[in-house]
Parts: sequence; structure tokens; C-alpha cells
Amino acid sequence: MSDPYDVIIVGGGPGGYVGAIRAAQLGLKVACVEKRGALGGTCLNVGCIPSKALLQSSHHYESASHEFAAHGVKTGKVTVDLKTMMGRKEKVVEDLTKGIEFLFKKNKIDYIVGEGTIISADSVGVTPEDGKKQILKTESIIIATGSDVAPLPGADIDEKKIVSSTGALALKKVPRSMVVVGGGVIGLELGSVWRRLGATVTVVEFLDNILPGMDAEVVKQMTRTLKKQGIKFKLKTKVASAKTAKDGVTLSVEPRDGGNAEEVKADVVLVAIGRRPYTDGLGLDTVGVAMDDRGFITVDHDFQTNVPGIYAIGDVIGGAMLAHKAEEEGVAVAELIAGQSGHVNYDAIPGVVYTWPEVATLGKTEEQLKEDGTAYTVGKFPFSANSRARCIADSEGFVKVLADAGTDKVLGVHIVGPAAGDLIQEAVSVMEFGGSAEDIARTCHAHPGLSEAVKEAALAVGARAIHM
Ligand code: FAD
Ligand code: NAI
Repeated sequence: MSDPYDVIIVGGGPGGYVGAIRAAQLGLKVACVEKRGALGGTCLNVGCIPSKALLQSSHHYESASHEFAAHGVKTGKVTVDLKTMMGRKEKVVEDLTKGIEFLFKKNKIDYIVGEGTIISADSVGVTPEDGKKQILKTESIIIATGSDVAPLPGADIDEKKIVSSTGALALKKVPRSMVVVGGGVIGLELGSVWRRLGATVTVVEFLDNILPGMDAEVVKQMTRTLKKQGIKFKLKTKVASAKTAKDGVTLSVEPRDGGNAEEVKADVVLVAIGRRPYTDGLGLDTVGVAMDDRGFITVDHDFQTNVPGIYAIGDVIGGAMLAHKAEEEGVAVAELIAGQSGHVNYDAIPGVVYTWPEVATLGKTEEQLKEDGTAYTVGKFPFSANSRARCIADSEGFVKVLADAGTDKVLGVHIVGPAAGDLIQEAVSVMEFGGSAEDIARTCHAHPGLSEAVKEAALAVGARAIHM
């Protein structure tokens, strides 16, 4: 038998593969076990990357169809070639997953294809799809097995007519109509893709509003904007049952708070009501790794489970189910295992919704500050007053900065607008350094730039925005 590994990571998603690279950089002998047949996990294969590829393509289609003319750019009839669009998406995914294989080789990480099962705190069994199980010895194990689609009782996913995000990323033709169950991030991103490509989209959301947990002004703006784009919303509504026929799906939906049920028909139904931790086949019961009542693995602040030597990171431990959160945890746990002091600052993790306009949120919402009894100041600046936004004809939305009323420390930043997902990064750095609204306000921002809206919102915290 060969020498034991220092670390075996089960799961090759953003948490697992980044943790593997960091551990290898620190001189550890590392193996990463992945059963999907490709590295990159949910994010690269069926999540962040294919969805952003389709969001970009469908955005181009929408721009060419409806926006170019205002710039004096004339086109003939614009049509969708879905096969090419999907082919491009697949190529982006393939190139990026292959890129991780290259990084593994470069860092001398053993990439082991197969299903990993934890046999004990120092051994992992790996069963390839068509091969013999092997047992690998190790000093430490990191569980990074991620998450899977949460099912909707009464609406069984067949990935053809009733689809999860995975099916919605690979439809063979543009549906005439789509019902999206769940007005969260997946529902709005993929609902936007298919609406842009020609489907009529209706979002059914159980709660009072879409994007639960986000700043109320963001939610209000996005509801208005998406409605204007043509997405219909049925809020406070639940799905009672779904019947699939040859020509589509008939959903029975009813008001959450009581009332008459109604039938809604659609070619395709997208179920996007959240994701659940994925621990199937891992053998956690055998080794006694503790989970909470929702199935998330419980860890301490060093990502250590209750079993010494077994760590867990990423979606499978809960919190924000975001690729960059999983990556930060991957780096931190590798550093901790190598004897360093890795940590993750959960107060400065941005969240981005890649609709158009984009939504980016960071830190506390105004509602949370009220609830906490924190005295705060608000600065807001609309993109309609930003010269670059006018030049690019993308002036919907605003930047909102929330700062501590006493110290001026930035507590939260919320953006709806063009490139919000990139603009938020300035605020993330400021929050990481414990900076103030004044720090942003006194920093020179290039003109004409969208980031000037962030500066102006920070100036507005002190009631001294220049262009408003
Ligand atoms: P995963 O990426 O889920 O990876 C876990 C891996 O473990 C999988 O490849 C799985 O095959 C493997 N595995 C599981 N069990 C075993 C086993 N027993 N043996 C071997 N291998 C195993 N997040 C963002 O930050 N930005 C986005 O834009 C974004 N878009 C998304 C869009 C969609 C449609 C979806 C579904 C998700 C999106 N996410 C996004 C969320 C993001 O994909 C996840 O937060 C992220 O992938 C979690 O990383 P992870 O490493 O914890 O797990
Ligand atoms: P989500 O938690 O964002 O949204 C689910 C929505 O469904 C919520 O609004 C919820 O109230 C609603 N809901 C729950 N049960 C329902 C029911 N029975 N009927 C109607 N509505 C119901 O989850 P989503 O959109 O599935 O995404 C899963 C995860 O993937 C998220 O945690 C998100 O962080 C991540 N993701 C991140 C993206 C990004 O960062 N851009 C993009 C896509 C996904």
C-alpha cells in the first residue's frame, strides 16, 4: 500500500477543488475524490457557469432585438439559434472543468474518479462507476459534497417538463410558457433567460415577496423591474399538485392563506425552491458525523466535525450556498489543517443575482439594522444620475450604503444596477478593512464610471452627494 495522504477531499466543487489546491500549495499530499466525471462541482457543471453563459447569450439576444436600434445600430430580424447557444455554454463549461484538471496536475493533486465513502476517520473507500473499490488511507478528510435540488412534493422532476435548474439549463427548445416555482435566485436568473428567449414566465412564490431576506428596497425595485420586463408574479401562493401531459404541465395553485385553487398551464415548470445538503452514500452514519435536523453537517469554527480528523466545508455545512463562500472555506480549512490560522469573514460575503439589472448585496439590510436596534445612516444614489449609466443606456437601479450612525463604519451595501456584481467588490474590500462611508467618499473614482454611483451613495451618507 502507498503512503497515506495528508488530506483526502471528497467532492471536487468550488469548496473541494480550491481546498485541494491550497493544501497542495502548503506542501500536503492531497487526493480529491469526485464522482461526477468532471471537476468543478455544481458550480461549473450545472450551476454558476452554465447559467451565466446562458444569461449572457440571452442578454445579447434581448439587446439586439430591442436595444440596438436606439443606438442607431440596425439589424435584420434577430433570431435565436438555441443549439449554437447551448453548444457555446457546453464549451465554456468543458474548458473550465478541464482547466481545473490542469491545475490539479500542476499542483500534483491526485484526482480520483469515483464515489467516496468514509470508512473511518483515516480511510476513504472509492468506487468508480465500472471498477473495483479501492481504500485510501489519510491523516484528514474534508467533506465537500455540496448540495442537490430540493424536491417539491406533488411535482416530480422529470427534467423534461418538470425541470430543476439542471434541466432548465439544457432545454431543447424555447418553451412558449414556463412556470417557475420559487422566486429566489435560480428562479429569477433562469426565468430571465427563458423570458428573454421568448417564453411567457410566471413565478409562483410562497412568501410575501421574491428574493426573501434581501433589503426591502432592492426587492421592491426588482419586482417592479422584472414585471416591466414581462415576468408575472403570483406571490403568497403554493403549488398543490402537478399533472404532466403530452402538451405540458397543469399546476393546481392555491393562495397560501386560504382561498380557491386555480389551474395554471405551462409547457415547462421549473422547480427552484432551494437546495438541500448532499450526503447520500457518504457513510456518515457509520462514522458518526453529526448533522442538524435539516441534514447539514455541523462543524465548529475550524470546520471540524464532531469526529476528530474529519472536516466539512461548502454547501454541505449550510449558510450562504455560494461558490465563493465554499472557496473561502476551502482555503481556510486547508490552512488550518496545515497548522496555519485560516478563517472566513462571514460578514463580508457578497451575494449577486445575475439578472439584468444585476442585484448585489453585502452585509446588513436596513431591516436587519432596525431589528438589531443599530443606529444607522443611509446614503442612496440612482443610476439615472450617473453619466456612464446614461451613456450605456442602463440607468435603472441605485446604490444604497448603510453606515453606523456613530462611527460611519460601512455596515451594508445594496446595489441594483448595471454590473452591480462587480461594483459591490469595492464595498467588500472596504468592509474587510473595517472602513467607513467617508473612506469610499474620499476615494477618487474614474469618470465616467459606474463606480461613481458607489462614491456618490457614500457621499450621500453624509448628505453631500454632488450629482443629486
Ligand atoms: P458542489 O459544487 O455541489 O460540489 C460538490 C461535488 O461533490 C459535486 O461535484 C458532487 O458530484 C461531488 N460529490 C458528492 N458526493 C460525493 C461522493 N460521495 N463522492 C465523490 N464525489 C461526491 N453560486 C455562486 O456563488 N454564484 C452563482 O452565480 C451561482 N449560480 C448557481 C446557479 C445554479 C443553477 C445553481 C444550482 C447553483 C448556483 N450557485 C451559485 C451555487 C453554487 O453552485 C454552490 O454554492 C457551489 O457549487 C457549492 O460548492 P461546493 O463545493 O460546496 O459543492
Ligand atoms: P432560494 O433559496 O434562493 O429561493 C427559493 C425560493 O423558493 C424562495 O423565495 C422561497 O421562499 C421559495 N419557496 C420555497 N418553497 C416554496 C414552495 N413550496 N412554493 C413556492 N415557493 C417556494 O433557492 P434557489 O433559487 O433554488 O437557489 C438555491 C441556491 O443556489 C441558493 O441558496 C443560492 O444561493 C444559490 N444560487 C446562487 C446564485 C447566485 O449567486 N447568483 C444563482 C443561483 C443559485
